[in-house]
Amino acid sequence: MRIDPAAAVVGHVAVPGDKSISHRAVLVGAVAEGDTHVRGFGRAGDTQATVNAVRALGVEVEDLGDDELVIHGGDLHSGSVDCENAGTLMRLLAGLLAGREGRFELTGDASLSSRPMERIAEPLRRMGASIETTDGHAPLVIEGATLRGIEYALPVASAQVKSAVLLAGLTAQGATTVVEPVPTRDHTELMLEAAGVQVRRRPTSVTIEPAASLRLGEVDVPGDFSSAAPLLVAAALVPGSDVTVHGVGLNPRRTGLLAVLERMGVRVAVFNRHRAGREPVGDVQVQHGELSATELDAKEVPLLVDELPLVALLAAYAHGETIVRGAAELRVKESDRIEAVTDLLRACGAHVTSRPDGWAIRGVPARLRGGHVEARGDHRIAMLGAVAGLASREGVDVEDAQTVAISFPGFYDLLHSMVKR
Ligand code: S3P
Repeated sequence: MRIDPAAAVVGHVAVPGDKSISHRAVLVGAVAEGDTHVRGFGRAGDTQATVNAVRALGVEVEDLGDDELVIHGGDLHSGSVDCENAGTLMRLLAGLLAGREGRFELTGDASLSSRPMERIAEPLRRMGASIETTDGHAPLVIEGATLRGIEYALPVASAQVKSAVLLAGLTAQGATTVVEPVPTRDHTELMLEAAGVQVRRRPTSVTIEPAASLRLGEVDVPGDFSSAAPLLVAAALVPGSDVTVHGVGLNPRRTGLLAVLERMGVRVAVFNRHRAGREPVGDVQVQHGELSATELDAKEVPLLVDELPLVALLAAYAHGETIVRGAAELRVKESDRIEAVTDLLRACGAHVTSRPDGWAIRGVPARLRGGHVEARGDHRIAMLGAVAGLASREGVDVEDAQTVAISFPGFYDLLHSMVKR
């Protein structure tokens, strides 16, 4: 797909429902009592894989519309599940199933099958689970077992690992505690609390009690901050731009990008703060600004882990040198995002050096040339290429552009509606 330079990016828009929360609504709804009615569901490749997964395990899911569904919760039976490209699905489902009766096989596509799975298998085994990986990867085979609660200190800051352990804790004997090196997204904790589970939260850990029955009832999913992010970054980069994304999730463990934008000199405003259930929501406005370099380290990384590729692009336009450290986790996302971003930005004319755990980027406050880039089957890299194209001098050709459908099928249509040429 060819993305031509934009004279400006403007508009008041909304984005699809949050992917992380949509996955959790379906997974928790599947084991909850009664019906769970989900509004604002972020229908996309990954979340549809989760709907298909619980269906494959015997749960009925009724589609009321593109962004609305009802899950008729019940017992999960043995079965084989294709998690496709969705790491969140595979890791959270493994935790959810570990203490339930049956035999479950979880497979994924080539990208998911290359991602590390011992990180969930190891703590689940400590709880008593029977879970086999294939040399540390998918396919996973889980035989439901009796679990006991544990206290587990996460070796890497990962909300997916934390969530897998907490979801297993629902069926364990005794309390389950996860200690985090730095805070990561807490959507699982918030949703379990909403479902009636006893959740105790401390600054660096969370404890849940087992729960014989859950009831979610209604879930209103806010817009996905990670889908809003490319639009906001496009506004920050292209002179004359002014974008407001309405009804977007503003959970503070997801919005680290806003702090980085402000630090770099961009004008950010937040209006209409309210809550959807326990999740904070609001409208975010970003206007173009002169950018200056910044530094990021491991403490900040989980708060914007999926937005770091966009931060690298911002840095390519900023006065001075930006250093991103403590982001080695990017190497085990849908692609090796450290190398994918380095190659993409270099192909567009930027000065980027990859480091084992991030980048060093020397910014030039003028439009990058543009070029031909590869999405590598990674939705966030495709969106990065598109934003780079809007901000470039000559445009960007994005190979494998349709991979955006993993999280945001309408991305290009929405983007085009906001572009002034
Ligand atoms: C997610 C957690 C993050 C994030 C992913 C979604 C989640 O992964 O990158 O896109 O929904 O819990 P890690 O927990 O592996 O960092």
